[in-house]
Amino acid sequence: MKFYLLTICILGSAIQMSAAGFVYKDKNASIQSRVQDLLLRMTLQEKIMQLNQYYYGNDGNDNNLIEYRHKIPPTIGSLYFVGNVQERNRLQRMAMEESRLGIPILFGYDIIHGYRTNFQIGLGQACSWNPALVENMYHFMARETRRSGVDWVFTPMIDVARDARWGRISEGYGEDPYVQGVMGSAAVRGLQGSSLATDSTVASCLKHYVGYGASEAGRDYFYTEISHQTLWDTYLPPYKACIDAGATAVMSAFNNISGVPATCNNYTLREVLRQQLGFRGLVISDWDAVPQLKNMGYCDNDRTAAAACLNAGVDMEMVSATYMKHMAELIERGQVSMDILDESVSRVLELKFRLGLFEQPYTREDYVPIYLTEDMMQCASELAAQSAVLLKNEHTLPLVNQKKIAVVGPLAKNARSLIGNWAGYGRDEDVDVLYNGIVQEFSTTSEVRYAEGCGLESQHDADPKRGWSAITDTIAHEVEALAEAVSLAQWSDVVVVCLGEKAGWSGENCSRSSIALPRCQEQLVEAVKQTGKPVVIVLSNGRPIELCRIEPMADAIISIWQPGVNGASALAGILSGRINPSGKLAVTFPYTTGQEPIYYNRRKASRGGHQGRYQDVTSQPLYPFGHGLSYTQYSYSNEKIEKNADGWEVSVEVSNMGLVAGDEVVLWYISDPYSTITRPERELRHFERIHLAPGERRLCRFHINPMRDLAFTDDKGQPILEQGVFRVLVADKTLELKL
Ligand code: BGC
Repeated sequence: MKFYLLTICILGSAIQMSAAGFVYKDKNASIQSRVQDLLLRMTLQEKIMQLNQYYYGNDGNDNNLIEYRHKIPPTIGSLYFVGNVQERNRLQRMAMEESRLGIPILFGYDIIHGYRTNFQIGLGQACSWNPALVENMYHFMARETRRSGVDWVFTPMIDVARDARWGRISEGYGEDPYVQGVMGSAAVRGLQGSSLATDSTVASCLKHYVGYGASEAGRDYFYTEISHQTLWDTYLPPYKACIDAGATAVMSAFNNISGVPATCNNYTLREVLRQQLGFRGLVISDWDAVPQLKNMGYCDNDRTAAAACLNAGVDMEMVSATYMKHMAELIERGQVSMDILDESVSRVLELKFRLGLFEQPYTREDYVPIYLTEDMMQCASELAAQSAVLLKNEHTLPLVNQKKIAVVGPLAKNARSLIGNWAGYGRDEDVDVLYNGIVQEFSTTSEVRYAEGCGLESQHDADPKRGWSAITDTIAHEVEALAEAVSLAQWSDVVVVCLGEKAGWSGENCSRSSIALPRCQEQLVEAVKQTGKPVVIVLSNGRPIELCRIEPMADAIISIWQPGVNGASALAGILSGRINPSGKLAVTFPYTTGQEPIYYNRRKASRGGHQGRYQDVTSQPLYPFGHGLSYTQYSYSNEKIEKNADGWEVSVEVSNMGLVAGDEVVLWYISDPYSTITRPERELRHFERIHLAPGERRLCRFHINPMRDLAFTDDKGQPILEQGVFRVLVADKTLELKL
């Protein structure tokens, strides 16, 4: 008995000693010491494996995944995961139980505006000017995502985008660096919450670092010519804002920045990101971007590409395996130092510790329900309502007396297009289509009838190589569909024409040379207009649209972007007047595609007046940045500016002059008329969304902090605050201050 007790004591203390030795397994130890401890235990090969993100198939179909499954080693750092909770747990168990050190896998995926519950796309979110609502949306998205087994999402996209031909303009928050920063930060807060180690938060990833939105001619993956001044003025501010908001990861971009690709750009990645912006988190390459340095003519083989990227500070390689194949040799040859490798491995491990993966590697399998819940649907609907922009209204909306409403157009019953691109696990059947929303909204007041009128594009346009008889059949069918819409319009009191883009016309690799709607959609507007009935155009779009031919025919136009699962009732509510529209454009609508790139915050030209204008079309946009109508009118008065201890306080009274309540978005701009480095004509510095009852008046304030709001950076990122006159602009008011 004595001997038995002694054995237990000896064994017990041995276990205690070894547990105490495994600092990385001790949840009470600091993350830093856990990382250090684990790093010391790892072999070179184990370290290299942490820097890889493998691809795990692109659908949930078991048969298609077999090949990928075989290739997954238990020591893999991360998986680009498409699957389900059970599969995640199976893979995680492999990592925890079959690898020497039991390092959990980090599961990352492109959950962009919803896992299954798709919300408004990024560009639309920006038009809500409601960062609190956007934060809430990302919080819901994080909850369904983490509970589905994904720890890390590749969002938000904060690429300033000024050429609407570029399909990815839909994913970010528009043309203004300040808006990108505010909305991106809201996304980061919503996704990450106050701790990553919960079942409702995920790690975020800012992308695409940096300047990807400057792709020449709006072509995806193309060259970008960006001076250091423009980098600091335009492309870096959103990153600074989101890093300050605590973003955990950054994805390097595909573009070539003035000769040096973003994936291995020492200046942007090491000097700027790490040293000047102080980013301490993880940098991942974009998809297959490391070997693509060969395509760009920067490296002649995978080995040099791997060295260039890791040395520049890309910690993890997405999908391609050049790090895995070549890193050991690069270390041996001294082309990558052990310190650099350790630094990158530490960042991967740190994120895993922060996510709590060592303590809770598995996802619970009994969460129900986590998708499309009432609170999420409510948020989707609010966001859809607040982001819709009423572009034009010739006393037509709201529809109050119309007994017969004709709903026509290819978007009226189209679910897929409303979810937009990058829709995660979104399903068409989850989406409430516009027609249903309108029918429900007007069920007690009006009769609503439908005719498609035309497809999103003509079948002939979609497939011009088809034979002659197929073309004549198509034409006959299209003529018939158009005639049906016209006769429905004749029957009606008002025609609601639902037009727009397919989900796949915006997003990655979805550039368009013309941002007009396909001809058949424009013809539908022409045809129904000829009936003499009022025409309301509803646009569902992933980018600004060239509307110059159909705008004059429309009595009202409303853009709802791609609102996701619950946009129909929001649109219908705006049509009926139940909801007063309040969205404003976070991106300029050009008059024609040829005006692109066009954006409000450009620098002034050398010759003013009539010079430098287009000869063939107006030089003005059709709808400028900040445009958006309401069913009420707001007036701005009593503007004031006062100096105080740390800056200036500017204020203005905003009044609701109309008969209905509404939300007004108050936009504050700064203009620096003369400076040693010229500034844009005006730059947004602050905004606020306020609610006003009829007749209500509110004092809106903007506190000007000179370093934050009046200074600019030089081409090295150094802030410069110059003396002189500055203007503050709000609606039609201009105030002046002197520094
Ligand atoms: C895109 C990224 C995306 C990644 C993973 C790339 O092609 O540029 O935005 O996160 O693929 O899907």
